[in-house]
Amino acid sequence: MNEIITARNVGMKFKAVTALTDVSIDVAPGEQVALLGHNGAGKTTLFRLILGFIKPTAGTISIDGHTPGSNPARRIVSYLPEQVMFPKMLTGREIVRFYAKLKGAPADEVQAVLRKVDLLDAADRRVATYSKGMRQRLGLAQALVGRPGLLLLDEPTSGLDPISRQHFYELTADVARQGGSVLLSSHGLSELEAKTDRVAILRNGELVANGPLAALQQEADLPIRIRVRASADAVDEVFALIGGKRLNCASVELLCPRSAKMATLSKISSLGPRVEDVDMTPPTLDEIYRHFSNLGPEPDMRSEK
Ligand SMILES: Nc1ncnc2c1ncn2[C@@H]1O[C@H](COP(=O)(O)OP(=O)(O)OP(=O)(O)O)[C@@H](O)[C@H]1O
Ligand SMILES: [Mg+2]
Repeated sequence: MNEIITARNVGMKFKAVTALTDVSIDVAPGEQVALLGHNGAGKTTLFRLILGFIKPTAGTISIDGHTPGSNPARRIVSYLPEQVMFPKMLTGREIVRFYAKLKGAPADEVQAVLRKVDLLDAADRRVATYSKGMRQRLGLAQALVGRPGLLLLDEPTSGLDPISRQHFYELTADVARQGGSVLLSSHGLSELEAKTDRVAILRNGELVANGPLAALQQEADLPIRIRVRASADAVDEVFALIGGKRLNCASVELLCPRSAKMATLSKISSLGPRVEDVDMTPPTLDEIYRHFSNLGPEPDMRSEK
């Protein structure tokens, strides 16, 4: 396979600290992958290895067949670091122009990229006057210029409001449509809302999940929340039959394994007019993320099976 990133059994130790253990992951051309994990899980370390800033203490990484950090690899990879810093005295346009030159991109790309990230109006102002979100978008412009084959974005959406975030994912989707790969790190599944093709989750330096969101949902096999509203005076009977916990004088809630969903529903429907309404809620993305990150269930998911 012609993968852009091929990482095999990668380990990274910093003296006593083990940042990554036996991580194997591939990213194909045109694929968007989200790398998730708690603080210190190893996300930035993996980026630094892919960039060739540091060398793995175990395993191998190649970028389209090249050694990370080598000239051909550097021509492919663009990077938006976690804490993006620019010289405050320069304007946005000057900064993007600088990166365009560095990457050998045509000068007219500068204007196009500034338009893409919605910074044209502020392009000739000094970066010192930019808001946090504007600096983040300038960081994205710097990464987009030169049409990279691989975009590495370390927590790119922190500091972006929901509209900018939406726009940001449209831009990465554009890159992917043109055959570029995107690997971006983030802290939670809920912010992604199925915007990437695949999700990889690191926990204490180990890759504990790697697959499309739908597959992770299935793999996690978390219970469905069923809420039953009983008709007047019937809540005790409903509770006696289906169990769970009583929310108030009319409603009962239970967590039901996916495999028992139909059986539970038929039990509820056997209650006939004693039930007024039923709501079912599948596990949220946050719950799935907590499952793989081993953070334990949400407090109200703990009481029952
Ligand atoms: N140069 C270094 N020297 C020693 N330890 C390091 C070094 N770089 C990273 N680490 C350690 O490696 C582990 C992984 O760090 P990393 O920065 O990759 O985490 P992260 O997933 O990016 O976290 P965050 O979400 O906070 O950015 C941490 O325990 C960190 O302290
Ligand atoms: Mg980090």
